Amino acid sequence: MIQIQNLRAWAWDKKILKWVSLDFQPGKNYCILWKNGSGKSTLSAVVSGSPKYEVESGSISIDDKNLLDMSPEERSAAWVFLSFQNVPEITGIKLSEYLRTIYNIHLKNKKPDTKDISPFIFRRFIKKHLDELHISEDFLDRDLNVGFSWGEKRKIEMLQIKLIEPKYIILDEIDSGLDLDAFKQVVELLKLIDSEENSIIIITHYFKILEHIDVDTVYLMESWELKKQWGKELAKQISENWFTKL
Ligand SMILES: Nc1ncnc2c1ncn2[C@@H]1O[C@H](COP(=O)(O)OP(=O)(O)OP(=O)(O)O)[C@@H](O)[C@H]1O
Ligand SMILES: [Mg+2]
Repeated sequence: MIQIQNLRAWAWDKKILKWVSLDFQPGKNYCILWKNGSGKSTLSAVVSGSPKYEVESGSISIDDKNLLDMSPEERSAAWVFLSFQNVPEITGIKLSEYLRTIYNIHLKNKKPDTKDISPFIFRRFIKKHLDELHISEDFLDRDLNVGFSWGEKRKIEMLQIKLIEPKYIILDEIDSGLDLDAFKQVVELLKLIDSEENSIIIITHYFKILEHIDVDTVYLMESWELKKQWGKELAKQISENWFTKL
């Protein structure tokens, strides 16, 4: 379980989060909702260990270990995956090498004495996953995310989730900018990934995705505070009335 208690965080001299307390349990799915600028992306960046933010007080634990003591790499090794709202483009790193590296780290995580998978074997192995997502093999030789369309970037993130099987999957507006086909593919893949072992945390402004992925709890962020915790009926209520009748 990820447990956040009384978290206060700063970016430069601006207090971004105040007194956020919530938890994410494996086997349950969550949705974080509220308006632009309410601190949703900041919260996920703090959980994934972004150096841009400073935690003033409070705690974040993962399976009873202190997450704040861990480097971003250790956090992803502890099975936390963040899909960024703005997916970074990285020149000089080929997609194939990036995927092979994270896959090897994942294998070692599960079994420390596992040997690295070679580039040749990995290419054969990854082919079926690419086909499933309708991604051309040519992408493997391109620089990571450089010039990829929005939908292509999202599919590559889905591919990463499939490869490393994270336990806590934070999806920051994964549904924005996708055409209907890409949206359906992402949803189908999320349904496949969704299990009793993991927790999918959906940050969104749209509600279509919640018709496909069952969430157990909806958290509302307002003015950088966690305001309310509701069951999934809230998502339906907001989708019908937006925030006006809350
Ligand atoms: N590094 C930073 N320096 C200064 N202000 C920041 C920084 N990062 C975030 N903020 C501010 O903190 C507030 C919360 O931002 P955040 O990106 O978390 O909002 P959000 O809820 O994800 O919004 P959206 O729905 O638009 O994605 C915003 O006002 C933003 O400008
Ligand atoms: Mg955001």
